Parts: sequence; C-alpha cells; structure tokens
Amino acid sequence: MKKRILSGIQPSGELHLGNYFGMMSRMIEYQEKNDLFCCIVNLHALTTIDDKSILSGNTLNAATDFIALGLDPKKTTFWIQGDVPQVCQSTWLFSNITNMGLLDRSTSYKDKIAKGLKPNVGLYSYPILMASDILLYGAHKVPVGKDQKQHIEIARDIAIRFNKIYGETFVLPEPSIEENNRLVPGIDGNKMSKSYKNFIPIFGSEKNIRKKFMSILTDSADINEPKDIDSTLFKLYSLFLNLNEIEELKDRFLAPGMRYGDVKKELFEKFWLHFEPFRKRRDYLSNHKDFVLSSLKEGAEKATIVADLYLDKMREAMGLNYG
Ligand code: ADP
Ligand code: TRP
Repeated sequence: MKKRILSGIQPSGELHLGNYFGMMSRMIEYQEKNDLFCCIVNLHALTTIDDKSILSGNTLNAATDFIALGLDPKKTTFWIQGDVPQVCQSTWLFSNITNMGLLDRSTSYKDKIAKGLKPNVGLYSYPILMASDILLYGAHKVPVGKDQKQHIEIARDIAIRFNKIYGETFVLPEPSIEENNRLVPGIDGNKMSKSYKNFIPIFGSEKNIRKKFMSILTDSADINEPKDIDSTLFKLYSLFLNLNEIEELKDRFLAPGMRYGDVKKELFEKFWLHFEPFRKRRDYLSNHKDFVLSSLKEGAEKATIVADLYLDKMREAMGLNYG
C-alpha cells in the first residue's frame, strides 16, 4: 500500500523560493509514488490575517501557484483546509485530551508572541488544528521544514493519548525533514520568509524580481579577492545547480576576476529560465480560474470522505453517537 504523505501551507502571503525549495518542490516530487494529500491551510492563516479580501485572494493564489508549479490535482488530493469543516469539530474533540503543558511548550507560539502577534486562543491552539489536519487524514509522513517538527510531535502525542484512552484509532505520524534541509536564505542573509520581507517571489513582474536579485547582500571583497562560498549569493545560486555545477561555481568564486554584479545578473537569468514553463502555466490558470476552483472542489470531496471516516470513529469512541 502506498504511504500517505500530507502537508499544508498557509496562504499568508506571496509564495517564495524558500517555500518552493523547502516544501513545494518536494511535495510535487512525492505525488509520483505516494498517496499525497496537500492542503492550503486558510484556517491557520486566520491567526495572522483579518482582512477578508487578502485571505480569500491569497488562498486562490496559493492554490493556483501550486498547480502551476506541477501539483496535479488528478494525482494528489488537493484542497482548501476550511472546505472540510470536520477538522474544526475534531479540533474541539482533541482539545479535551490535550494538556495545556503540551501547548505551553510550543516554541512557535512563543516566537510569534515575541514578534508581536496577539496571544489569542486561536494562536495558542494552532497545534491542535494542525494535529487534526494530520490525524483526520491518516497521514503517515508529514514533510515540513525544521521549524514545524515540534508541531508534528504534538500531533503524534495527541494521537498516542487518544489511542490510549479510547482505543487504537489514529495512525502515528512521523515528521519528514530532509537531512540536508536547505534553509533558503533571503536577500538579506536571514531565513527567507514572507514576514521578514526579504523574499524572492516565485511569480511576479520581471522588473521587480530582477531588482530583488540585484539587491542580494554581498560583502565588499575586491574583484581579485576570493569570494565567500558560504555567502547568500552562493547558496541561492546553488539551488539551481547540480553537484558538478556547484563545484564549478566554487572555482569561479575562488578565482580572481569575478564580479558579484555579473553573478547576480546570471543568477536572475537562471531563475527566470527555470520558472519560464511554470509562469506560462500560471498565466493560463489565471485565465481559467474555473479549472482551479473545480479541482479544489473535487479535492475537498475526496478529503471529506477520509475525514468523515475518522471523525465517525472518534465520535463512536468518545460516546458522541447515541441511540
Ligand atoms: P514563511 O516563513 O514565509 O511564512 P511558512 O512558515 O508559511 O513560510 O512555511 C511554509 C513551508 O515552507 C514550510 O514547510 C516551511 O518549512 C517552508 N519554508 C519556509 N521558508 C523556508 C526557507 N527559507 N527555506 C526552506 N523552507 C522554507
Ligand atoms: N503550520 C504549518 C506551517 O506554518 C502549516 C500546516 C498546517 C501544516 N497544517 C499542517 C503542515 C499539516 C503540515 C501538516 O508551515
């Protein structure tokens, strides 16, 4: 039997190269050999967005981007989280067996509060909603970036506790973190993130994206000095190269005569060429919104069948079915 792999991404802004290399491209590869479930988690995005047109616009854009980049809704169950409201019911059910201590230890919650997000109940119980996403679809493996590992462990703890109290019901999920997990740096050298505004979007105007590449932070090494192969520019360029090409780039960085400006221009051209076919498909899909919407509807129907099955098992186990 194919393993069920599931992951989700928040529609909290424009998708960027970090999202692509860290999560999206991996998911797209997985769909060939696995039973892939992938959702746009708009309910989670409510913890940071309170503007209805921004949330709905971002949601459709994220789904369109994913399909344009190669996610095939015929091979993958692809849906919008909030279109399967069963996850909200199971979140309540799970919250009754989740100790506050488990959530108190969430480093992601603490980081968000430190960044100034309002400490409301939604933000606090975010990991329970995420556990619902994972457990209600019987996922074995959850590919995420390192920052999400603790959330998967919380989901696993909740499943263990439920199974212990009410009997064997849920698959215990495992996080899947690529060993050489490429943390893609932003143009300022920090982790690329929507919230740091240091990101390079996957789709957007040529002028705007070129400008982003040209402003990648570099040191002031002289043209004939060896250049830093641990730099942001080197790391970003490597994303588009195979191992041999990375060695060649190393040689160029270490040899005299290399100008950062020329490498940045070259990198932009590589990026632009790499995403050319996806941009064409993105343009096509923007004019065929119906295809995206009907794919999401079908996806939600497929996801609902699985969620209903698990929710019913939960209800039965907990004594909510009567008569
Ligand atoms: P952001 O930090 O831009 O808000 P998210 O937290 O929504 O991104 O991340 C969505 C997915 O993309 C997660 O699986 C995360 O691990 C991955 N991801 C985000 N930024 C990066 C990055 N700079 N490098 C690698 N993966 C990333
Ligand atoms: N919390 C994840 C993030 O911010 C998104 C997410 C929600 C998710 N539900 C999920 C990831 C289920 C994997 C599985 O990146």
